[in-house]
Amino acid sequence: MRRCARALAMVVFALVAAMPPAESGADNDTAAGRRIFARGGGRDEVFASFSGTRAALPPAVRRCAGCHGPDGAGGREGGVEIPAITWRALAAPRAPSPGRPARPGYVGATLARALAEGIDPAGRRLAPGMPRYQLTPTQLTALSDYLGVVGTERDLDPGVTADEIRLGAVLPLSGAQAASGQAMRRGLENALAAAGSIYGRRLRLVAADAGDDAAAAFDRLAAGDQVFALLATLLPPDAEGAGEVPVIGPLAPTPAQPLPNRFHLLAPVEDQMRLLVDELAGETPHPLRLAIVGPQGSLADAVADQAARDGAMVVGRITAADLAAVLPPAIEPAPDAVLALPGAALDGLAAQLASRREDLLLAGPAQAVTPGVATDPRLRLVLPVWPTGPGGRDASAATALPPLAAAAAAVLVEGLKRMGGHASRAGLVAALESLRDFPTGAAPPQNFGRGQHIGSRAGVVVRPDRDGGIIVIGSWRAPR
Ligand code: HEC
Repeated sequence: MRRCARALAMVVFALVAAMPPAESGADNDTAAGRRIFARGGGRDEVFASFSGTRAALPPAVRRCAGCHGPDGAGGREGGVEIPAITWRALAAPRAPSPGRPARPGYVGATLARALAEGIDPAGRRLAPGMPRYQLTPTQLTALSDYLGVVGTERDLDPGVTADEIRLGAVLPLSGAQAASGQAMRRGLENALAAAGSIYGRRLRLVAADAGDDAAAAFDRLAAGDQVFALLATLLPPDAEGAGEVPVIGPLAPTPAQPLPNRFHLLAPVEDQMRLLVDELAGETPHPLRLAIVGPQGSLADAVADQAARDGAMVVGRITAADLAAVLPPAIEPAPDAVLALPGAALDGLAAQLASRREDLLLAGPAQAVTPGVATDPRLRLVLPVWPTGPGGRDASAATALPPLAAAAAAVLVEGLKRMGGHASRAGLVAALESLRDFPTGAAPPQNFGRGQHIGSRAGVVVRPDRDGGIIVIGSWRAPR
């Protein structure tokens, strides 16, 4: 009888050992385990070094995924065989093979010893390529919990549970911008709620107050693994660390070279300026004579380059917002058009133009003029989004989502649908990269591709009419 009971205990023990140590593991623990596995933990979260040295390895070197693969399946690295470390692989006893001696299956205690001392369950010393880790008991539990799910269907990226996907936005919820930040939060919540449930998961917004430290708020959401992706969010300039979190439609100017997981929806300012040059050249019956007002630099160079492509001539290039400096007698004959770069006080130039009779076009970014004030029909303004109703003051304006945020929500929801039931950030990025001519309402149709994360280079050119309204010239256009 007693022997039977002992045999049964052994079987139970074997079954337990073959299972991930803590199946019931709290969500938070797995998140910490995943962080150590995928990223090597936070900067000072764990200590690891190669055997025989005390030099701390940086996260990028000590991350398990870096050597054993993102799914823990192992592989071959420069002639070195790297074993699989999914719990399934570790728990199974290994038969001997050439270059790899046999060992019993791992249990919690032998895994702890392998990580701390580099000794496997057969008592063999592991090759020096495997670092030594000093982990707290909690970290060890979290890590072995995660080894139980890595590479399986249950290996969900941060912010994803069986019935929910959490999406983040850093918004100005306090301070001078609070009213628009709060309206944006409500708008995003509504847009995500309206998407309903996607593969059984509802979308939930986690908004963080930018306060006076947007970078910290961004870090809390992104590096803190609170969300799956971010949308329509303020983006601190130095928030590059959390590069693996997809960001859709950041509330920031589109850079020439976006970071890998960032998706920008609006044309970079350079393309908008090039488009204006096309418009000015198109409206002039002879080769355009163009004067440029604004800071010297790459943007001014791009404008001059576009002018050359359009067969136009740059007749003046000044930095001060002074119309007299680019008109006769300073420049003879008079230019056909003056283009004001961002930062060139277009409002002031427009006021100077109003008091002159010249037959001249004045062009610049629409954000630089006060709507309703600049009513001169000689103005040409470029926008990266479709202009709102007359004066932009329709009754719903206070509650409506700004075009960029609405477009970000639409793009993200479409990406989540295309991603399918297995929610992974890599899957989302691939899904977004498949969008072609995706309509977004007030933002231009979006086109992404592999490594191509600027959704549109198109803008729209408008001119004021005499009643303070605006007239759209043509439709969405990208520069020639
Ligand atoms: C710099 C590369 C590198 C990193 C980082 C790394 N390992 Fe390893 N690991 C190896 C190599 C190489 C081996 C094979 C050693 C041998 O078999 O002699 C190994 C072996 C192992 C083994 C023994 C497997 C077996 O079948 O006996 C375990 C367990 C293990 N690693 C877990 C981890 C965990 C967990 C992490 C992250 C906390 C990690 N490793 C990080 C390179 C690495």
